Amino acid sequence: MKVIRVKDYGEMSRVASEIVIGEMSKKKNIVMGFATGRTPLGLYGNLVRAYKKGKVDFSGVRGFNLDEYYPMKKDDKRSYFSYMFRNLFGRVNIKRSNVSLLDGGARDWKKECARYEKAIKKRPIDLMILGVGVNGHIGFNEPGSLKTSRTRLVDLSVETIKRNSGVFRKVPARALTMGVNTILSSKKIILLASGKEKRDAVSHLVSGKISGEWSVSFLRGHKDLVVVADEGAGSLLG
Ligand code: F6R
Repeated sequence: MKVIRVKDYGEMSRVASEIVIGEMSKKKNIVMGFATGRTPLGLYGNLVRAYKKGKVDFSGVRGFNLDEYYPMKKDDKRSYFSYMFRNLFGRVNIKRSNVSLLDGGARDWKKECARYEKAIKKRPIDLMILGVGVNGHIGFNEPGSLKTSRTRLVDLSVETIKRNSGVFRKVPARALTMGVNTILSSKKIILLASGKEKRDAVSHLVSGKISGEWSVSFLRGHKDLVVVADEGAGSLLG
């Protein structure tokens, strides 16, 4: 594991975009895994700017998203589908047919999760971009998740629902998420963390017991993991 300590959110986003652009330039048809939430917004903004300056090309890029609320219609403003098109996919030259997201509107969630797993097995993820929850979740693998878990329907913790809901926009209590094992099968993982509310999660990632109480700790043994943590998020590290 490589831990890169940076000053703040802006620096985290800049370092992350340099790493992502570096990987993209090594492999034109790279398969990427995308997180949503507040953490990668700066990174996605930098990628859009780099694209507009002609420094990066998404035409061969394929992507899988980590998770989606369930049930959730694609065109709902709260959906991660909408988020990705608003913040990245709709602003760069990625091909619609090259991006794959879990369908929160699927009637049969088991079938949907099996479809996703099959698609990822066919095109393994080269570079997974992750954030981390204050409770240590990666994707929506909440406390109690197994290392062997694959894509499935999960119950969200009360804390996660509260953090992810706006005043008028409550999010569903369940979600479809790649499992811990699905995430671990990515060839390279970059995890971004900003702010002191992430410090416990980052500390459990770097040291201590590896257990489902802090799903993020399962990443520790990954062969190519880069953590970019700002001062707040890294404040419990030595
Ligand atoms: C998002 C995801 C979550 C977030 C995490 C942090 O697709 O899977 O694990 O990365 O909840 O969210 P933010 O970045 O909003 O603090």
